Amino acid sequence: MSAQKNITAKTLPALREMKRAGEKIVCVTAYDATFAALAEEAGVDVVLVGDSLGMVVQGHASTVPVTVDDVIYHLRAAGRGISHALLMGDMPFMSYTDAPMAIANAARLMREGGACAVKLEGGETQLDIVPQMSRRGIPVCAHLGLQPQSVHKIGGYRVQGREAAAAERMQKDAVALGEGGADMLLLECVPAALAKRITQSVDIPVIGIGAGADCDGQILVMHDAVGLTRGHVPKFARDFSAQKKHPLAALKDYVQAARDGDFPAREHCFD
Ligand code: KIV
Repeated sequence: MSAQKNITAKTLPALREMKRAGEKIVCVTAYDATFAALAEEAGVDVVLVGDSLGMVVQGHASTVPVTVDDVIYHLRAAGRGISHALLMGDMPFMSYTDAPMAIANAARLMREGGACAVKLEGGETQLDIVPQMSRRGIPVCAHLGLQPQSVHKIGGYRVQGREAAAAERMQKDAVALGEGGADMLLLECVPAALAKRITQSVDIPVIGIGAGADCDGQILVMHDAVGLTRGHVPKFARDFSAQKKHPLAALKDYVQAARDGDFPAREHCFD
């Protein structure tokens, strides 16, 4: 069961080059072929099959119930909708508790799902696992700040890194993960000033969600970006479908705003 596609036009070195050139990287989640195709047509660089699928597709209250098989299913669907955006898949809760398990599950996301990179949450605990994945040729996006898979431990979806000690730890983890072979870093719900410092202190592209305008790029959950979210919409999101725009027009506005630095605006950021 293979889901291999051609080598994507948007490669990890290409994203690193965008960081060097100061060009903003635009990413969005998608979980099926239609929305992935709309995202690509709108010009996004990276399509993430996030474990947010547990909430926005499966209707769970958190990302915790999502399985490796779920992510593979949605990677295969989303992958059929794109030909040159980079397809990234989330490693679900408890699918990477040690290096052999992380490598085996990442290989499944790549081989069976067609992912060109995998994303996993965690800082210090991943400093042993990420280098082992990287040495075996697995492209890894690390995920710091708010880590939704730990929601039951942290007791809610909160901004992370406001206290000096936590900020310092996050910055140290970011540098260590970059030096340890992570290819990208995602920062979620982090004060804008801290995200800026981290972005400046690593060579790898830093993608923000609720992390201010100074990251190398932005990511949004598709449903937030095109006005499909029911219930609570996070402060950091903007509904680009205002005036009842078609999702493609909304996604084009998102790509343009993120490239121009008009999104996120002050009201989407945390201090
Ligand atoms: O699963 C997800 O959608 C994420 C977001 C932070 C983009 O990881």
